[in-house]
Amino acid sequence: MSTIDEDDGLIEELAQKIAYHSDLYYNQAAPEISDAQFDSLFEKLKALAPEHPQLSKVGSDPDPGSVKVKHLFPMKSLDKAVTAEEIIHYCEVTTEGGERYIAQPKFDGSALSLEYRCGRLVRAATRGSGTRGEDVTRNARLIANIPETLGTKVDVHIRGEVMMSLDLFEQKYSEVSPNPRNLAAGALRQKHEDGKAHASDLIFRAYDAKFPDAKTRHPESEEPPLVECDSEILEWLEKVGVEPAPWMVFQGENLGAALVTHTQEWAEKRSEFGFEIDGLVFKLDHLSRRELIGSTAHHPRWAIAWKFPPEEAFSVLLAVDWQTGRTGVVTPVARIAPQKVGGVTVENVTLHNIREIERLNLSIGDVVKIVRRGDVIPKIIESLGKASITDLQGRVHADTTPFKGELPAPTPIPIANTCPSCQSDLILDGAFLRCNYVDCDAKISRALIYWCRALEMDGVGEKLIELLLENNLITSIADLYRLQHHQIVALERMGEKSATNIIAEIHSSREMSLSQFLHALGMPRIGPEVATAIAQYFVSLDALLMWADKGEAESLTTVDGIGDKVAEIFLQGVIERNSLIADLISYLFISAEEVSSIGRFSGKTFCITGSLSQPRKRIQERITKAGGKIVSSVGPNLDILVVGEKVGSKLAKAESLGIEVWSEEQLDLKFNSDGLTIPDSAKTIFDY
Ligand code: IVH
Repeated sequence: MSTIDEDDGLIEELAQKIAYHSDLYYNQAAPEISDAQFDSLFEKLKALAPEHPQLSKVGSDPDPGSVKVKHLFPMKSLDKAVTAEEIIHYCEVTTEGGERYIAQPKFDGSALSLEYRCGRLVRAATRGSGTRGEDVTRNARLIANIPETLGTKVDVHIRGEVMMSLDLFEQKYSEVSPNPRNLAAGALRQKHEDGKAHASDLIFRAYDAKFPDAKTRHPESEEPPLVECDSEILEWLEKVGVEPAPWMVFQGENLGAALVTHTQEWAEKRSEFGFEIDGLVFKLDHLSRRELIGSTAHHPRWAIAWKFPPEEAFSVLLAVDWQTGRTGVVTPVARIAPQKVGGVTVENVTLHNIREIERLNLSIGDVVKIVRRGDVIPKIIESLGKASITDLQGRVHADTTPFKGELPAPTPIPIANTCPSCQSDLILDGAFLRCNYVDCDAKISRALIYWCRALEMDGVGEKLIELLLENNLITSIADLYRLQHHQIVALERMGEKSATNIIAEIHSSREMSLSQFLHALGMPRIGPEVATAIAQYFVSLDALLMWADKGEAESLTTVDGIGDKVAEIFLQGVIERNSLIADLISYLFISAEEVSSIGRFSGKTFCITGSLSQPRKRIQERITKAGGKIVSSVGPNLDILVVGEKVGSKLAKAESLGIEVWSEEQLDLKFNSDGLTIPDSAKTIFDY
């Protein structure tokens, strides 16, 4: 019988072997052992340590979003057209009367680049800035129609759109997300499987494939296919097992006019399509002609995106109500006669603030024009005064239902002067009305709802929060964590099981990163992105609270995207919430923010070889903390080889591939040079 110590040693050895071979398999496309041998290592580890973290790692894919990827081929944008004249101009002038075009729907999802090496999926990245995106390989592998291997051992970068079908969105997600695109983008980037949607609910459609040249290709990869046209690439994609976006070829006479007719046909059948599309893309089909015409830094000249016109409808303004939000701002909400626009029925439209009401010169009883552009929340863009809906014939969108009810008598919009929730006097703050009463119920309930939404607590929604507030079971966010099972069971229409689930859900929301915590607090202007930037700057809550104690907002303006105003708002927000934060931290586990992705080595792959003066593990740790990635063998995808003494064949291989080689001293220099983008706060914590 083996002792516990021996088992521990074996477990670690197995885990290391699996990590090593996963890297060769997934990242290098150069396995040293057979699939069966790999599976056997995996099974052995599973038998000895079923919970071992290595088992849940797919290959050695990094956490989604934690590593930046430089695109070998930049992912550009598309030039836009909205009128028929612009399409004709594109056809006859920009592309100099090209003789063949393809047309595809322009999918409204999230762009994804899939890198296959020797026919095996090694990396998936978001578009990001176009030059650099985020590694989302682990989630991309969960998308059912993204194949792990292609039907051929080629090196290729396949681009396409990740989307959620409208049916699935309606069935499962329409309550939690404004549109399928946000969900798809979120599911692709999420680090854990507990986000709103799971990547396995997504679907991929390819619209492009690019082949690295012979110098960059894996030495064992097959030759790319010989093609002359984009349509042949799309056919090739289908053949090797990747689903392309549907396409149509246009050739012959009068192409401009034919493309315009095509846009009209699509505008009519848009809503019949199973996915959100926001227009059409026209592209020259011949690759040689594309090369001749070229690209700008922003978009190719050989393609154009035609966007569907914004959808408009008319309705009647029935009333305006005022609502207090979590930050105390009291906003006007227009109640309009229910109207369909862009496929959704609209009844409530925010009017933002008093200035917006004045700008639109709105009165109750007015006919109003509402517009929905793509996925954007519908808004009122114009008041047509007393015009009757029948007067608008010809200007009304096909979907517009004539208003049959009684028109309200024309009345000016009443402007609130007390808070609709606590009746305190309101203060005019620029264009906004504000309730400054700290214990205002509406503010507390909105803040609680915001907290639960931000932490994605399933089953703890608006209704439950209202119920808990009404029953005086909670008065602050921290009270949520003091709730007990018997208190919830005692609520009206509440079963044992639901109460247990609610407690469990609240309990499981106690672990969060600093950025999630800051976002969930719901301070004005501190959305998820700003919260992440601030959290990466402070890294720990302690560092942040020390800064708030000093009361000097300016230092925060060194963070990208944070100006004086936001820094000041944030400081005030933290100070105001001092006692809430102190109360909360005794229940929460707030982890330090990961800073790896902001290091100077982000997106760079390192391999270390030879004997070194410091423990290899320490060097690896320093590189990964600066955003670099460690691999164990030299391949074309390696960026830097770090060499110590007594190096072997790796150096020769790296040199033959033209890979940068650094000595240990050079590496140290890079760490110590002032070009490091690691914030000061992080330096002390990670001991750079
Ligand atoms: S072709 C050089 N085809 O639209 C860019 N793009 O606005 C070549 N998109 O980032 C892109 N459907 O994510 C192309 N059928 C389609 C598309 C499509 C959606 C997206 C794509 C791109 C964005 C540009």
